[in-house]
Amino acid sequence: MRHTTVGIVGGGPAGLLLARLLHLEGIDSVVLESRDRAYVEQRQRAGILEQTTVDALRAAGAGGRMDREGLVHHGIELRFDGGAHRLDLPALTGGRSVMVYAQTEVVKDLVALQLAEGGPLLFGAEVRSVEGADTDRPVVRYTHQGREKELSCDYVVGCDGFHGVAKRAVPEAERRSYERTYPYSWLGILADAPPAYDELVYAHSERGFALASMRSPTVSRLYLQVPNGTDPGDWPDERIWAELDLRLRADGGRSPNRGPVTAKSVLPMRSHVTEPMRWGRVLLAGDAAHIVPPTGAKGLNLAAADVLVLARALSRRCATGSTELLDAYSDTCLRRVWRAEHFSWFMTTTLHTEPGQDPFRTRLQLAQLERVATSPHAAAELAENYVGPATPAGPSAPGGR
Ligand code: APR
Ligand code: PHB
Repeated sequence: MRHTTVGIVGGGPAGLLLARLLHLEGIDSVVLESRDRAYVEQRQRAGILEQTTVDALRAAGAGGRMDREGLVHHGIELRFDGGAHRLDLPALTGGRSVMVYAQTEVVKDLVALQLAEGGPLLFGAEVRSVEGADTDRPVVRYTHQGREKELSCDYVVGCDGFHGVAKRAVPEAERRSYERTYPYSWLGILADAPPAYDELVYAHSERGFALASMRSPTVSRLYLQVPNGTDPGDWPDERIWAELDLRLRADGGRSPNRGPVTAKSVLPMRSHVTEPMRWGRVLLAGDAAHIVPPTGAKGLNLAAADVLVLARALSRRCATGSTELLDAYSDTCLRRVWRAEHFSWFMTTTLHTEPGQDPFRTRLQLAQLERVATSPHAAAELAENYVGPATPAGPSAPGGR
């Protein structure tokens, strides 16, 4: 049976970045990804990178194209009640900002690096089970090229997303899940049109939430709140543009620029946390352990924060034999995870209109948005959460290496 130090289940951003960070520490790993390369590289997800994620990608040697093509954003705009309010991120957070660089591009950069100089990255390798979490040699069972295979590991990391199998290595009696589903979804489009606004626009409207984001100076990414179960086929392009106009235009403001729609899909909204994030020699990272609704764009950033903490912990273990950081892994990550869960829930529930929402709730939402627009403290609270903590583990975590 083949053996590796760290078996990584899933080749999304979490698994790929972890493999890369371990490689740079001289720790060997094998990444097993069930899908093919094209699918993984083209999966549309959010594209806002916090400073710690940008730093992590640079440290991983994957920052070259990001630094050339990524767009640094120093503000976001909130639109509500017919008006617009800009949050100046560096002014509110002691100089921090965010980078707009799509997750598809992050994944392409990491895949190229891993194939060029990392350990094995197997596409079309579907993991069936992870066994022996309580032993010194957990085993990953998977199928590849029609054959059943096994990989023995010192540690296994489940980076296999929300529907992954790795979390089943935590005994059911010990696994705790916390979950919220929301009574609305997002209809997202990509359009070949230069973004009309320099920064991201988050719009509260009684017709429902809308978001104007971007992928590049020539590609817009736009979202509309829609009812759960919406068929994208019921939204011809013309209907989408008309609705975006109604929700995004502040009084006297510009409409989004129109252009050919190149992708259209509906995304459900969910909050979910699985605890603990470690059982024996199996550790969970990224969406395998936690999901946030996309409103705060925290998913990729949480995944990157987990694997930074984990790479450091595994490196300490390999260099010194100490399991101190591994033992602290779940608690360290969960502090940041729950902060981001709260922020994502807050952004989601403050900006969306529930089906049949009563006017009292709408008034409360507007009062809260007004507070952010008029109180530097409330604005700083939102901005700090938006740009994320200054260190991967967050401010209150125990020190590093
Ligand atoms: N065997 C092998 N691979 C698997 C298996 C399995 N049984 N199950 C799932 N996978 C793969 C998926 O195909 C996917 O490529 O695991 C990968 C998980 O990747 P993501 O879902 O992208 O999760 P993660 O790497 O944690 O990245 C988090 O993704 O969902 C977004 O908003 C989230 O941006 C955040 C990021
Ligand atoms: C995106 O560009 O896809 C995006 C940006 C910001 C969000 C969510 C999604 O809050």
